[in-house]
Amino acid sequence: MCGIVGYVGEAQCTPLIVEALRKLEYRGYDSAGVAVLGGRGLTVVRAKGKLSNLEAKTKAEPPDGTVGIGHTRWATHGRPSDENAHPHSYKGVAVVHNGIIENHLALKAALQKDGHAFTSETDTEIFAHLISDEILSGADLPEAVRRSLTKIRGTYALAAVCEKDPGRIVAAKNASPLVVGVGEGANFLASDIPALLAHTRDVIFLEEGEMAVIARSGVELRRMDGTVFTRAPRHIDWTPGMAEKTGHKHFMHKEIHEQPRALTDTIRGRASFEEGDAWLDEVHLNASMARAIERVEIVACGTSYHSGLIGKFMLEQLARVHCEVDLASEFRYRDPMVSERTYAIAVSQSGETADTLAAMREAQSRGARALAICNVLGSAIPRDAQDIIYTRAGPEIGVASTKAFTTQLAAFYLLAVRLGRLRGALSQDEARLHLNALGMIPSWLEETLRGEEGIHSVAKELVGGQHATVLYLGRGPQWPVALEGALKMKEISYIHAEGYAAGEMKHGPIALIEEGTPVVVLANHNDESVYEKTLGNIHEAKARGAKVIAVANVGDTQVGQLADRVFYVPSAPALLAPMLTVLPLQILSYHVADMKGLDVDQPRNLAKSVTVE
Ligand code: M6R
Repeated sequence: MCGIVGYVGEAQCTPLIVEALRKLEYRGYDSAGVAVLGGRGLTVVRAKGKLSNLEAKTKAEPPDGTVGIGHTRWATHGRPSDENAHPHSYKGVAVVHNGIIENHLALKAALQKDGHAFTSETDTEIFAHLISDEILSGADLPEAVRRSLTKIRGTYALAAVCEKDPGRIVAAKNASPLVVGVGEGANFLASDIPALLAHTRDVIFLEEGEMAVIARSGVELRRMDGTVFTRAPRHIDWTPGMAEKTGHKHFMHKEIHEQPRALTDTIRGRASFEEGDAWLDEVHLNASMARAIERVEIVACGTSYHSGLIGKFMLEQLARVHCEVDLASEFRYRDPMVSERTYAIAVSQSGETADTLAAMREAQSRGARALAICNVLGSAIPRDAQDIIYTRAGPEIGVASTKAFTTQLAAFYLLAVRLGRLRGALSQDEARLHLNALGMIPSWLEETLRGEEGIHSVAKELVGGQHATVLYLGRGPQWPVALEGALKMKEISYIHAEGYAAGEMKHGPIALIEEGTPVVVLANHNDESVYEKTLGNIHEAKARGAKVIAVANVGDTQVGQLADRVFYVPSAPALLAPMLTVLPLQILSYHVADMKGLDVDQPRNLAKSVTVE
């Protein structure tokens, strides 16, 4: 949600800033802007809508300057408009901000009483006024920012520039992410790493309550009390190409196809087939700690919540530990039953989701130890967790989560094996078998991806059809896959879809089925306890006129006789099968959305990382 970039160097910075903002488009936005300092002083250009609007304006009248900040805004306070777009400026000070100032009404009223006039409906504009007042009273820019921050209550990632103190950007962080890029002859700032990759891979993650004073000659880090400290940059091994589409029409398509590589990376060096154990170097549990766990509490949102639901099956079956899964937004407000014998697992691609972070902290405050399953290095959730499994999916730019989901599942599987071994629930031989099967996943994914053409033609039928909804049904570990398939369809193709546990069909959703209603059924013949029952659900749906689209295993002889269309995936063990069966559902939604001409990577109203409640 919202993106910040900054540049201090020798080059004309506007095109660099716009290009860096483009790498943050995935975060979701509805307006954009830049503020540039140069020979003509401060120039601010802002535009509602897509970045191309901002680009057109800056090309028509290029701002002059080698120091600048830029922003993509996802509206919270005030509608999307040129006036509400960031940067906000006042008397030579310009500011970009992600987050929410909770006491902005009181601050605004006080400033208005002192004669300040406001031009936007945003809370952010307050910062420009507060900082400008401090500059007028003699402070330099870092001190002016620091003093202003002591007056506000809320969350922020902030960057400011000022005509009276040119040559540097001052940035500050509390809750929203900010990364400083350390270059040669130029230094950078961004909300996320992809915006920096074209320039540098040496980065400093700012932590809560920290500020950065970024000049061409170097970067100085300060705490809110003004003390200076140092932190060595970390080298990121992502390549610039990882944040490009590399020949694919959309990031989502690229990311779907990256799954074999991503899963290989998730598993690499962590599955010891010889020793029959999983090596998770940032999970610091020993046998007595693992045995002391009474229950696992998984908290997450959206797609990550669906992976948590499957993680529960893995942890309960392989590690024999009681496991609950909660939507983070519900968990944090329901006075949950947590103790020091609870192991809390926060699952998040971005590592910045506000509800998941708060839920994890809630569990920790009640004594739980926390593990983060996360994709983004150094983000807030892993920073606060005691244990971490990075999913190593590489940057996920499309708003619809794809490779993050399957890599989270692999992380859960590795964890379940490790806990199973530590708790004595799995023998070495059993663990070996599980890890061997996990090792097959990348090649099974490749095989599954080869079925894309067949899925494309079913997508055509869906786009051409007249139906009010698409139902997704599954049982056991395939039930969360049904939820995930429906979420994918809804969020990128704007077609109503519902995921259900197939056993629940008769308790309500069956009423939705009429002639031609598409019903997607996940039927895994390796899940013996529920396979026959799932076939029964196909019969029931067909009897009411449904068009059944099934996902079944290669070698299955029954589903093909019942369903109208079948996507076949390799025959994996039941706990691993979700990593495969979700692929046809991702591909199906992708092609439906693309055929409808929709903005696949940035669906309306959605942001990639939801950093507000
Ligand atoms: O970054 P996170 O995994 O914490 O994000 C959670 C959800 O916002 C995210 O999964 C969302 O549901 C995706 N748009 C789903 O594709």
